[in-house]
Amino acid sequence: MRAETQAALIDQLRAHVAARTTGLAEREARVARDVYLSPAVLDAERALLRRVPVVVAHASEIAPGAAVPVDRAGEPLVLVRDPGGTLRGFLNVCRHRGTLLVPHACTARKALVCRYHAWTYDLTGRLTHVPQGEAFPSVAEERPGLVEVPVVERHGFVWTGVPQLGVLDEDLAGFGLASHHLLRAITWRRACNWKLVIDAFVEGYHVTSLHHDSIRRFFLDAAVQEAFGPHLRSAGARRELTSTAAPEIRDVATVFYLLFPNTVLVLHPDWISAITVWPDGVDHCRFEHRMLVPHAPRDDAERDRWDRSHALIVEQVFAREDLEIAEAIQAGLGAHADDSFRIGRQEHGLAHFHGALAAAIASSSCQRA
Ligand code: FES
Ligand SMILES: [Fe+2]
Repeated sequence: MRAETQAALIDQLRAHVAARTTGLAEREARVARDVYLSPAVLDAERALLRRVPVVVAHASEIAPGAAVPVDRAGEPLVLVRDPGGTLRGFLNVCRHRGTLLVPHACTARKALVCRYHAWTYDLTGRLTHVPQGEAFPSVAEERPGLVEVPVVERHGFVWTGVPQLGVLDEDLAGFGLASHHLLRAITWRRACNWKLVIDAFVEGYHVTSLHHDSIRRFFLDAAVQEAFGPHLRSAGARRELTSTAAPEIRDVATVFYLLFPNTVLVLHPDWISAITVWPDGVDHCRFEHRMLVPHAPRDDAERDRWDRSHALIVEQVFAREDLEIAEAIQAGLGAHADDSFRIGRQEHGLAHFHGALAAAIASSSCQRA
């Protein structure tokens, strides 16, 4: 992030703290209860997540000579990095009778071989061998290779297409995302709609109460937020804001990004949470968390500090506070108290997220019509 942007955010936060205010939208908003329950909405969201650039892996998870299956909103993909380092993505299905080609991460130095009848593809996806090939006259004509899904590497992640991040590209480059080291990765299946998880990361209103006994002590009540197209950048004031003279933003605030639609970055003081949430039915989701540190731990003390931080932030704050609340909301949706929920002026990140999602879905439906 540019130094001027950091200074401007710090000034805004200081002004809010001095005035005992926080960033407020002009008006209150509403989100319909049905968006967390509707199979039709879920289908539209899945289609969107398969159409727009999304994070499907950390680049370091696909070593040279490896093939790694990933799931893009219910659609199986395989990421393949050849020994020279070139990364490609394909639909993870054999062109014979559709077997999942790579069920588990494996070494693939030269070829991918389907275990059912041994159709063989090279690492560019080209079909190179069909046992008893004379029985398939259509194959000689059509040469059905793997269906390619374009992937790119940006900011240390593998995306399905070039992410359109605008000025946030500069922010993320400035924080050195691309050179971060993946220290730990977890995946959990949780009993809530995927958007309820995103909702928990686009407002800071809940920190005082929900996180009272865990991280509340690190924060002041002031936060600011700005939208960049469908994406969001938020900054929540930390206690150091009032005591540190000429700081960088991460010395005095926690910066959050929503990389629309389903990835959230949380910039803790000395490491980064990268969260990607996928729908798994209307009332379940897959929560992926990657702990990114600026470099591999240099000694036991550093490893210990990051382990303790992971235990507090991921296993306590995210798992037992944010995700439990998302599940508690899902459980409450069966009681039809309201057709829509209230979004306060300080929670406007939710209105932005749901608005951007509805707009993206509407625009993809128009393109299809
Ligand atoms: S389904 Fe893959 S070779 Fe037959
Ligand atoms: Fe939270």
